[in-house]
Amino acid sequence: MAEKVAVIGTGYVGLVSGACLAAIGHKVICVDKDDAKVARLKHGDIPIYEPGLSDMVRSGLEQERLAFTSDIGSAVSSSDIVFVAVGTPPLDNGDVDMTQVRTVFEQIAEHMAGYKCIVIKSTVPVGTHASAAAWLKEKMAEPIEFDIVSVPEFLREGSAIHDTFHMDRLVIGSASRAAAERIAELHKPFGAPVLHTDNSSAELIKYASNAFLAAKISFINEMAHVCEKVGADIQLVAKGMGMDRRIGPHFLNAGIGYGGSCFPKDTRAQLRIAEAVDYDFKILRSVIEVNQLQRQRFVEKVASALNGSLEGKKLAVMGLAFKPNTDDLRDAPALDIIEMLQSRGAAVRAYDPVAVGHARPLLPETILTTDPYEAITGADAMIITTEWDTVRALELTRVKQLLASPIIIDGRNVFAPSDMATLGFRYVSVGREER
Ligand code: UDX
Repeated sequence: MAEKVAVIGTGYVGLVSGACLAAIGHKVICVDKDDAKVARLKHGDIPIYEPGLSDMVRSGLEQERLAFTSDIGSAVSSSDIVFVAVGTPPLDNGDVDMTQVRTVFEQIAEHMAGYKCIVIKSTVPVGTHASAAAWLKEKMAEPIEFDIVSVPEFLREGSAIHDTFHMDRLVIGSASRAAAERIAELHKPFGAPVLHTDNSSAELIKYASNAFLAAKISFINEMAHVCEKVGADIQLVAKGMGMDRRIGPHFLNAGIGYGGSCFPKDTRAQLRIAEAVDYDFKILRSVIEVNQLQRQRFVEKVASALNGSLEGKKLAVMGLAFKPNTDDLRDAPALDIIEMLQSRGAAVRAYDPVAVGHARPLLPETILTTDPYEAITGADAMIITTEWDTVRALELTRVKQLLASPIIIDGRNVFAPSDMATLGFRYVSVGREER
C-alpha cells in the first residue's frame, strides 16, 4: 500500500531514503530548514555527489511522488509516517550533538493533529527513543497517540542507492508490533530480510555494526605492519582469512585507515556511550588509536621512501575524498596526510576527480587539480590516498615519464608490486613487499 511519508532532513540519509521510498511508489515529502537547498532540490539539483541519486530525484519529481518543502508543519500534517533523518554531529568531547533531533521532535509535536508513526533514521545513542517520546509529550498541546520506530540506516556513500535496494537487513525496533509491521510493509518492495527488535537493540545495532567494521579495518592494518616485518603479503593473508565464512572477505583491505562521516564519529560516540554506563570499551579505544596512527605511519613511509626527509620535496597526492565515488571530505585520511606532509616541508599538488571544489577552503596551501597527470608532472613521488578508478586506470608509462623520480607510495594497494617492478618504479605499498 502506498503511504504518505514525510522525511525531515535532506542530508545523505534523508535524501536517499526519500528518493528510494518515492521510487517504490510512496508519496514522499522531504523537509529541510534550508530554503536555498529546498529551492535547488525542487529543480532536481542535488547538493551531494551520489551515483544515480540525481536521476532518481528527478523522476520522483516528474511523477509527483516526491516533493520538497521547508514547511515542516504542512509536511507533518499531510503525512502518516514521519522519518527523522537530521544530522547527529559529534561534539568536541565525542558525545553526540542531539540538538537537531530534539528540535525536530518538538516541531513534530507542535504540528501533529492526529496519530503519527515516527521513524528515527538518524544515528542516535541508545535510549534516544525514550527521550524522543518525552520531548514529544512535553510539547504537545493535548495528548495524541504516536509510535516511535528505530530503523537504523546502513547505506554506504557512493553506493547508497544500490545498498537501499539490496539491504542485507532491515532492522525495525519498536515497542508496538502494529507500527513495526507497518514499517516492514512500507519497505517491502526492497525485499530485505527484516529483523524485529526493541528500540534500544535497534539503536545499538547501528553503532555495534560500525564499530565492528572499523575494528576489522584496524585489525587488518595492524596485521599489515606485521606482514611488512616478516615479508608476508597482507592481501594473501586477508584472502586466506576471508575464505573462512565466520570471518568473511569484506572490510579486510589494509590501507591508510578509515575516514568519512560515520566510522570516526560513531566509534567515538560508542566509546562515550559505554563510558556513560561506566564501561571502558578497550577494543574500541584501540581501534580508534590504530586508525589515527595509520595516517602517521603512512607519512613515515613516504618520508623513508624519499630517504628520510620531506623538506623541499614536490609530492603528488592522488585522491582527497575519504573513499571513491563520493566528494565527501569528512575525516578524509588524505587531508590529515597532506597536512603532515606539508608540515614536514613538502609542497603538495593534489588530484581528485570530484572533491576539489570542497577541498579548496580546507587546503589553502595545496595546488588542486582534476587532471591526474597535471598533479604528477615534475613530482618527486606519487602518493595514492583514494583508490579512484581514474587512479587505477593511469597510464603508468606516462606517469613514469612525468614524475621527476619514479617513486610511488600507495596507501590503497591499487597496483601489483611485481608489475610495478617490471615497469621500473620504486613501489611502496601497505603490508606488501617493497619493490
Ligand atoms: C559506512 C558503513 O559501511 C555504512 O554501513 C554506514 O551506514 C556508514 O558508514 P561509508 O562511511 O559510506 O559507510 O563507507 P565505507 O565504504 O564503509 O568505508 C568507510 C571507510 O573505511 C573508508 O575510508 C574506506 O576507505 C575504509 N575502508 C573500508 C578500508 O580502509 N578498508 C576496508 O576494507 C573497507
